[in-house]
Amino acid sequence: MSSMGEDEEVSSFFESSPPLKKMEDILQKLNGFIEHNSSGGRRRRIVCVTSGGTTVPLEQRCVRYIDNFSSGNRGAASTENFVKAGYAVVFLYRSGTCQPYCRSLPDDPFLECFQFPDNSNIQVHSSHVEAVKMAVMDQQAAVAEARLLKLPFTTIYEYLQMLRLIATALKDVGPCSMFYLAAAVSDFYVPWNSMTEHKIESGSGPLDIRLAQVPKMLSILRTTWAPKAFCISFKLETDAKILIDKATKALGKYKVHAVVANELSTRKEEVVVVSSSGNVVVRRDSDKPESIVEDNLIRLIVDRHSTYIKESHS
Ligand code: PMT
Repeated sequence: MSSMGEDEEVSSFFESSPPLKKMEDILQKLNGFIEHNSSGGRRRRIVCVTSGGTTVPLEQRCVRYIDNFSSGNRGAASTENFVKAGYAVVFLYRSGTCQPYCRSLPDDPFLECFQFPDNSNIQVHSSHVEAVKMAVMDQQAAVAEARLLKLPFTTIYEYLQMLRLIATALKDVGPCSMFYLAAAVSDFYVPWNSMTEHKIESGSGPLDIRLAQVPKMLSILRTTWAPKAFCISFKLETDAKILIDKATKALGKYKVHAVVANELSTRKEEVVVVSSSGNVVVRRDSDKPESIVEDNLIRLIVDRHSTYIKESHS
């Protein structure tokens, strides 16, 4: 397909998307965050971490949808590590998925962490004190210091419109900006204008739906939206035999700076960073129970980003 064809596909995707709700509010938060981190002698690096899966609605007044798998753990853990490394993070996440600093909390923190010794007092259960303290204090500090801006999405339409807003807003940050695209993004969707408005009726037998292909936004992100940003994409496969080959092809096709390849069942133990300088296996430190693969992964990515910034300035 010619690049003109790709551009047209992208424009037609956006033109037919339902407009983003609260766009002014999102833009104001985003621009304020970038301004704060790039002015007054501050030149912090800014990373956009995407996290969680996008949904594809089947009805405009959506009752049913197709979902892409992602718990949001990778994005949340990576965000914590980027903040620790001095970055400001725009965390573009799927509503309801795992949040930074909350990974050690139980599934239902309200019901499991608190207890009432009497009618007027509330206490944290002793077994959860450390996790609650860390979640509340670290998250509040990151937000107060303008190190963390959280922006939620649900549908593929919201995700791609927000990614475009962020990329465009970060354009002037140039090589000091990074995209770390851990979200699991739908490859197929129902175009809004060919979607039924009301709930699909179930009485008329099997359902046939034709899904259109979502244009690959990685190309346009690299060439047009944020060509100077450092860009890391992900590749998830369930068949380990094809993983590295697929990641290598994505590296060549989208000209990203590295592709993080992971296999579904081992993704918390190891990933492979595929780049033009070779493939590096990154593992969690199995002798340390607290260790997670993102500790070592973000260290490597930050290092690579530093080299990229130096090379861009020379
Ligand atoms: O959240 P966890 O449970 O911790 O799991 C983490 C993870 C396995 C979801 C994560 O590590 C991961 O691999 N995320 C990417 C999953 C994936 O399948 O990506 P993809 O094949 O949908 O997309 C590949 C790349 O292309 C991604 O960087 C995506 O942002 C990008 N893309 C995808 C579709 C599209 N239309 N445009 C894109 O640019």
